[in-house]
Amino acid sequence: MAEHDEIRSLRDALSVTPDNLPLRLHLAERLMQLGRAEEAASEFRDALSRAPNNPACKIGLARAFYEQEKNSEALVIVEDLIRNAERPAAAYLLHARLLLRAGDVARAVREYKKAVDDDPGVADEALAERLGVTGFEEASGSEVVDGKLRQRGDDEEGPSNLAVERPKIAFKDVGGMEDLKEEIRMKIIHPMTHPEVYKAYGKSIGGGILMYGPPGCGKTHMARATAGEVKARFLSIGIHDVLDMWIGQSERNLHEIFETARRNKPCVLFFDEVDALGASRSDMRQAAGRHQINQFLSELDGDKGDNDGVLILAATNAPWHLDSAFRRPGRFDRILFVPPPDAPARAQILRILMQGKPADGVDYDHIGKKTDAFSGADLKGLVDVAVEGKLKEAMKAGVPKPLNTKDLLNAAKGLRQSTKEWFATARNYALYSNQGGIYDDILKYLKL
Ligand SMILES: Nc1ncnc2c1ncn2[C@@H]1O[C@H](COP(=O)(O)OP(=O)(O)O)[C@@H](O)[C@H]1O
Ligand SMILES: [Mg+2]
Repeated sequence: MAEHDEIRSLRDALSVTPDNLPLRLHLAERLMQLGRAEEAASEFRDALSRAPNNPACKIGLARAFYEQEKNSEALVIVEDLIRNAERPAAAYLLHARLLLRAGDVARAVREYKKAVDDDPGVADEALAERLGVTGFEEASGSEVVDGKLRQRGDDEEGPSNLAVERPKIAFKDVGGMEDLKEEIRMKIIHPMTHPEVYKAYGKSIGGGILMYGPPGCGKTHMARATAGEVKARFLSIGIHDVLDMWIGQSERNLHEIFETARRNKPCVLFFDEVDALGASRSDMRQAAGRHQINQFLSELDGDKGDNDGVLILAATNAPWHLDSAFRRPGRFDRILFVPPPDAPARAQILRILMQGKPADGVDYDHIGKKTDAFSGADLKGLVDVAVEGKLKEAMKAGVPKPLNTKDLLNAAKGLRQSTKEWFATARNYALYSNQGGIYDDILKYLKL
């Protein structure tokens, strides 16, 4: 069953029996598995309103928050569960993750051990490995084969703590951004699919593309779609993975990340919020920064392994924090601005976001024109709000009603356009530290 059909039929069933708690928890868990944490959160919340104090609903909501990086919200619930729940193993586990995310490894280890003591069933090998506590319980991902130690999943997915995805979205699921799609095709896709042609023209192969721009405008979405477009695997490395390396706790390092990508080729290796490597941020451990950057660059240069079949993309909201060494030829020598979507792109994004939802004669072009400065993420919020409103109506009326133009326009009214703040900062960098014209695109966009 296609993803949206499955979810829709679960939702339909729930609209008939809204008090069916196991069913709602099942829907929420499915949404979590599909990476739709925000929707999962709203189901857990709903479940909780019907069954206050139910620990399964609480831990579910906390996990959904964790997935959305709403760390303090997650923490509040977790602390409450640790105090009050009968068997808080799942709460200890999530607490360990939150502590690890905050960089407090020592406490994370303690909480992890409490979790496993309480219920060995919650043992999480990937987390244990990141905490450097593998071997303290019996379950282990390693086995000895032909006299060599083998990690589980060695032959394809790589270490289990690095999640290699197979994205189902492709360029057609990205609204607008035609120039960027073309750059990605020319700079990294074609060199991979037709290396001989590039060599014949004396074009070097290698390096990656760095996307920068305001949050919520589709950088991460585009990276994932690039993998789907060429049916490659997708390995996304976020700021937390990088920070964990600074802690130096585990042997897992940058080399392992690149090796995982190389083992899974063709693979898009995506560094999200890559400014974390720039070491100019105050929350970064300065001392390790230079060493880490050099190691990263030598992996990027292919000194330590063959990067054929590995497409490298990176994204940041704050390119000004990025070390200039990243920009040399053969590295991220294409630095591309991802602006907020224009009106036609907004219309297209809305069409994509509305796929599979009941709609009636929606004038997307019109709404596109009326949503100036909305990011893709803002548009997603708009659709969510409109759907919620419609659901309420449908519940009252007892019949489902399709969404129309007015519903979407009304939903837009209460929403904030989130790209403006970013431009307030970007403007200053573009005006006053625009070395080599790297921010000319911002100036052009702002018509300065
Ligand atoms: N051009 C786009 N086409 C389709 N959906 C988009 C687009 N831009 C943003 N979105 C939606 O908004 C969400 C947030 O975008 P994201 O890629 O996370 O932004 P960024 O990485 O630039 O902060 C995406 O998950 C996607 O649903
Ligand atoms: Mg992103």
